[in-house]
Amino acid sequence: MVKGVIFDLDGVLVSTDALHCQAWVETSRRWGIPFTPKDNDLLRGVSRMESVEIICRVGNHPLSDEEKVRFAEEKNRRYVELLESLTPADILPEVPETLEELRLRGIAMAVGSSSRNTQNILRRIGLSDTFDAVADGSMIVRSKPDPEVFLLAASLLGLEPAECLVVEDAQSGILAAKAGGFAAAAVGPARDCPQADVKLCRLSELLRIV
Ligand code: BG6
Ligand code: MG
Repeated sequence: MVKGVIFDLDGVLVSTDALHCQAWVETSRRWGIPFTPKDNDLLRGVSRMESVEIICRVGNHPLSDEEKVRFAEEKNRRYVELLESLTPADILPEVPETLEELRLRGIAMAVGSSSRNTQNILRRIGLSDTFDAVADGSMIVRSKPDPEVFLLAASLLGLEPAECLVVEDAQSGILAAKAGGFAAAAVGPARDCPQADVKLCRLSELLRIV
């Protein structure tokens, strides 16, 4: 029986996945590294520095450690600038009513995100007080597909992994959930991931399985 739902943030609750992509594309262009939106799914769920590694590999463009750090900082500066225009209107479809219904049913709710910008984003979209727990990229050392962030979210809720369902748009997130002993529901691009336990066309379909 599901007692808690752990939501990924970017691409599940809010449309910031597109802003991550825009900031990577712009920064890569400035650095002369080939990177296009079609490569963006590779970066879903993975940390900022691991994203740099993937971009260098895919673009066949090696950087020194010091350059990687500067590249990541530039991308984040641009991303944080883009976040300034974020409002509650950027919350993804069916999120508010689904969260509301889960709350009424007494289901515990957490965020489990690799992003170090999680608190800023939750504040801008007006969801800072919605969740019982928030585990984010600033609280972990290993990002998805490692289960650390979801294990932390479950423990903050006081629940076992087997009692929680994770909702993800990233293949790395589905793998992280499964590695941690969670059930995993896929939305968006994660629906291509064979390890997902359930594939949701719309977020409100969650209410049929919880
Ligand atoms: C995840 C995104 O939620 O957070 C990734 O899917 C991103 O694309 C990661 O790289 C880290 O985000 P941030 O905000 O700490 O750079
Ligand atoms: Mg995501």
